[in-house]
Amino acid sequence: MKSYRSSTWFGKKDKMGLIYRSWMKNQGMPEDMFDGRPVIGICNTWSELTPCNAHLRDIAESVRRGVLEAGGFPLEFPIMSLGETLLKPTAMLFRNLASMDAEESIRGNPIDGVVLLTGCDKTTPSTLMGAASVDLPTIVVPGGPMLNGKYHGHDIGSGTSVWKLTEELKKGQITYDEYAEVESCMSRSPGHCMTMGTASTMACMVEALGMSLSGGAAIPAVDSRRKRLAQLSGRRIVEMVKEDLKISKILTRDAFENAIKVNAAVGGSSNFIIHLTAIAGRMGVALNLDDFDDIGSKMPLLVNLMPSGKFLMEDFYYAGGVPTVLKQMQSVLKMDTITVSGKTHAENIAGAGINYNKEVIYEFEQPIIQEGGITVLKGNLAVNGAVIKPSAATPSLMQHRGRAVVFKDIEDYHARVDDPDLDIDETCVMVLKTVGPVGYPGMPEVGNMTLPKKLLDKGVTDMVRISDGRMSGTAYGTVILHVSPESAIGGNLALVENGDIIELDVANKRIHLEVSDEELAVRRSNWVQPPPLATRGYVNLYIKHVQQADKGADLDFLVGGSGSTVTRDSH
Ligand code: FES
Repeated sequence: MKSYRSSTWFGKKDKMGLIYRSWMKNQGMPEDMFDGRPVIGICNTWSELTPCNAHLRDIAESVRRGVLEAGGFPLEFPIMSLGETLLKPTAMLFRNLASMDAEESIRGNPIDGVVLLTGCDKTTPSTLMGAASVDLPTIVVPGGPMLNGKYHGHDIGSGTSVWKLTEELKKGQITYDEYAEVESCMSRSPGHCMTMGTASTMACMVEALGMSLSGGAAIPAVDSRRKRLAQLSGRRIVEMVKEDLKISKILTRDAFENAIKVNAAVGGSSNFIIHLTAIAGRMGVALNLDDFDDIGSKMPLLVNLMPSGKFLMEDFYYAGGVPTVLKQMQSVLKMDTITVSGKTHAENIAGAGINYNKEVIYEFEQPIIQEGGITVLKGNLAVNGAVIKPSAATPSLMQHRGRAVVFKDIEDYHARVDDPDLDIDETCVMVLKTVGPVGYPGMPEVGNMTLPKKLLDKGVTDMVRISDGRMSGTAYGTVILHVSPESAIGGNLALVENGDIIELDVANKRIHLEVSDEELAVRRSNWVQPPPLATRGYVNLYIKHVQQADKGADLDFLVGGSGSTVTRDSH
């Protein structure tokens, strides 16, 4: 019988072996579970504080059933869960912490293969980053999106409709009672945001990378086929252990390139860039910001989902989901990359990939937009780069010169944005500082600043906005994000003053502050770094070690991996 990693715990015939087995038996486990069969960790991000993942214990049961059927020994364990909606100041601050939790939990325990149960935005990259640094056979089971929101006879989408309805409330177009009614209409089943927000983007990324079984991204959380996927994944991970199909055999450079192209086609979130870069960093795969532009920006937008489009994830699933997108894009993808099924993408979608709704998934030859990928901008305002999602922006603003209206931090923005005396019009460029990885800290999703009330009242729907923060994947607008280096460490964004002229030129990938180098040097000599917001604990560690957005905002000492070997045995 093949000997697995877990045998160095459960296979021991000494005092430690007795201890390892005996305490496990207090859960009622029979002797034969320790007979050398593959031990499968079910890494669960379940939490009632992460509503998008609150159903994952139920999904874990289906995984467990599959593992047992295949002759494995399933052991479910929790790690820190990250919910976008409740966790303050921003879930992104803790993505790297949760990745450390996942990494050390997997490595330090008798686990031969791992199933990652994910859902809300950060729960996917954090678990994948952690698993990548250990490099065991790994499969992802995404929790699935909520059912479409239904409100007053039409569909509404998580996040996207919140931004729209909040503007309508601000303009007095709807009452507060109507606004409050949305709460139940929008979130009417278990699952994550059902727009192409970051959670859906991450699920599509996972499938494009080959890290989940085919078709896994879009199945609604409550559709019985979600549990079927979980059970099949449980069976499959046992086989992956026997085949020694480690994560490093799947997450190759080709797999990352596929994910970048598919992200463009599905209209995925700008957060995709930061998370994919961080995962690549853990795998030792070279991937930089320019790669996203070179590989992705010319890809067509095929999927008509909010926030860029009209439909929602439930519609995407019924139209064919990611397999249909892969089929449409097969001429530009590396279809021979291996996936968790043990087969290539080409083999996975053979006989699948029918397009059941061409309003939801467009044909590759007749896309919604010819070049739908995220564009990387550079210039003196973002020496190491910034990003814009053109499919969510206003075409007429993609070439724009405007006067800067500066907010020094998010508190300043909230205090002044609706001041009737604020000197601003629709041609201005709103600039928000101190919301980067170090500055906030944690790089929150505030880049899509709501426009000033007086401009909304005038009927203005979009303006150019720039920050070193992020934007929710459910949001939209002509919003320049992830400016690097960020303002809190002295990037040129810190030096912008009210009245400066900023030029945005998306076609030429340029973001430029029309201030001379001499004047910038003077301003720099007078610049004072804002004090850190934490002097102890994890947040202090984060501030000292977080990398900039263009590097994936991972902690510098977490980049790379340590493998699955535990350096010292327990005694
Ligand atoms: Fe969890 Fe949107 S809030 S996925």
